Amino acid sequence: MTRDQESIENPMHVAIIMDGNGRWATERGLPRTAGHHAGIRSLRETVETAVQRQIHTLTLYAFSSDNWQRPQSEVRALMRILAAQLPSQAARCVRQNIRLSIIGRRDRLPDPVLQAVQRAEARTIHGTALHLRLALDYSARDSLTRAAQHIRNNGNGDFLQALMRAYNADSPVPDVDLLIRTGGEQRLSDFLLWECAYAELYFTPDYWPDFDGTKLDTALYAFQKRQRRFGSVSV
Ligand code: IPE
Ligand code: IPE
Ligand code: MG
Repeated sequence: MTRDQESIENPMHVAIIMDGNGRWATERGLPRTAGHHAGIRSLRETVETAVQRQIHTLTLYAFSSDNWQRPQSEVRALMRILAAQLPSQAARCVRQNIRLSIIGRRDRLPDPVLQAVQRAEARTIHGTALHLRLALDYSARDSLTRAAQHIRNNGNGDFLQALMRAYNADSPVPDVDLLIRTGGEQRLSDFLLWECAYAELYFTPDYWPDFDGTKLDTALYAFQKRQRRFGSVSV
């Protein structure tokens, strides 16, 4: 850890599109679901490093609304992993003083997942070291559309409040500073379209199961070298 890395901008919002689980598994002759299992270690290490680096908010894309289109067996396996992992991850969050919340639609989640989500949120509500947000059944376009409908139906109102409500965010968070996508693709796949207006984009060919705290540090270091102008000119 260099002095440069220690002085990373705070409070910082990092978002990650955790992609490449399926290809990681396929290249090893394993079923795609083995990649989803393997990605749990990456998640744990990334979260630990985020706490150490004093990142304020970490939003992780775990399941997009378009992911329902995958074969039923894969969707079921993913939902089983979520229901099984949420309680132990929540316990870890309590120990590390992390607040865990879920963004996205809740009405289509299977009951065991929804219950695990609600318990995890309740258990970690007082966490202050990091706000960890897991995006489940999340679609930025769907959220933006529903926020716009809410504003129209109510005459007027605060758009950001409406957007937060549309994807069930429990508190406002800063815009994304750094968006990381693993797995080599260079696209947003309907993730945080509004909040990424001025995000720095970082793409890595590493599949998600190969990502870890050191690789997060590499991304944070690259971010630190970027010059952000927000439409203005540098002085
Ligand atoms: C990301 O990995 C995890 C989810 C979308 C749930 P993928 O499953 O998309 O893995 P690839 O991109 O097919 O390798
Ligand atoms: C985005 O990855 C969703 C998650 C990582 C949860 P996808 O694998 O679903 O995205 P595309 O299909 O490559 O755009
Ligand atoms: Mg993918």
